[in-house]
Amino acid sequence: MIEKDFIPSAYNHTITEGKVSYKSPSNIALVKYWGKKENQLPQNPSISFTLDACATTTKISFKRLNKPSEEYSFDLLFEGNSKEDFKPKIKTFFTRIEVYLPFLKEYHFTIETSNSFPHSSGIASSASGMSALALCLVALEKQLNPEMSDDFFTKKVSFLARLGSGSACRSIEGDIVQWGNHENTEGSSDLFGIKYPYKVHDNFKRFHDTILLVDKGQKQVSSTVGHNLMHNHPFATQRFKQAHENLDKLIAVFESGDLKEFIAIVESEALTLHAMMMTSMPYFILMKPNTLEIINKIWEFREKSNSNVCFTLDAGANVHVLYPENEKDVVFQFIKDELIGYCENQQYICDRIGFGAKQLKMNA
Ligand code: PMV
Repeated sequence: MIEKDFIPSAYNHTITEGKVSYKSPSNIALVKYWGKKENQLPQNPSISFTLDACATTTKISFKRLNKPSEEYSFDLLFEGNSKEDFKPKIKTFFTRIEVYLPFLKEYHFTIETSNSFPHSSGIASSASGMSALALCLVALEKQLNPEMSDDFFTKKVSFLARLGSGSACRSIEGDIVQWGNHENTEGSSDLFGIKYPYKVHDNFKRFHDTILLVDKGQKQVSSTVGHNLMHNHPFATQRFKQAHENLDKLIAVFESGDLKEFIAIVESEALTLHAMMMTSMPYFILMKPNTLEIINKIWEFREKSNSNVCFTLDAGANVHVLYPENEKDVVFQFIKDELIGYCENQQYICDRIGFGAKQLKMNA
């Protein structure tokens, strides 16, 4: 598919008002997306576990205007309160997607949104937030064009979510989603995420992700700035090549269930992501001393217990502790005994692999 395929032809239905609501999860990348081309196209393919507990719920009430507005017409409520400082982000998103959703200026929208995870937990809400918003908007479009197939619906949501925040395109489906052209993954695309199409061993079926909140503050460097620093980065070409190779290796690992190899790929990817940050110009460090303390504790524990617990990181100081279902009791005990002390206010979130976004029933 190409970008043009997402531009609709004239709609055959009209709708004057209504409501739609979705709950969409966050995701955690195993092979990381870091570096983009124009229009939010990734420099390399990435793959993630869809999460379950960390999610955004968004409700959009829409009302057709008598005549299209000059500017986008919308109100935004975050956790029940009007949130003016989120509005520019939504405006930018609407501007990027209007060509694909030409009705945007024909309606007034009231967007109500809330997160399941604590505000300012250092957890990126852009993946769940942008995917929930894209879901609501394409659901409205489906009312204007009821013939839209489910497959096209999912692809279009992912395509639009990507224009809000790259990683958001991996949050629509579960339980493993791949985004970005990869020659050995059939159907893979830079334009949208796809449900991972190959065999996945039972070892990976109910994986856990306990997110340790090491630093709940605002990141010093946004991911937009970080992605841009991959332009002219001295190791960029090699890094993008490595992501392709790691995906090849992961395909084999998902099939065989080899947890030791899984750990090697996932931890290396996490540290490579941060190595890219530390070697860009200007350079920066998002890990905190406690991030490293936790990593060392995990390595020590793994050494002595032969456990299959491992870690990954996103663009921040928090640590995602990943472990298989059959080790959940031992590992969770280890987390409580040895890791929680490194979290800000001892805070953590118990999450696990999830199965994608859900439409919520609207009363009236
Ligand atoms: O979606 P963005 O632009 O916030 O970038 C996310 C980048 C990482 O979380 C660091 C990696 C990834 O693949 O999710």
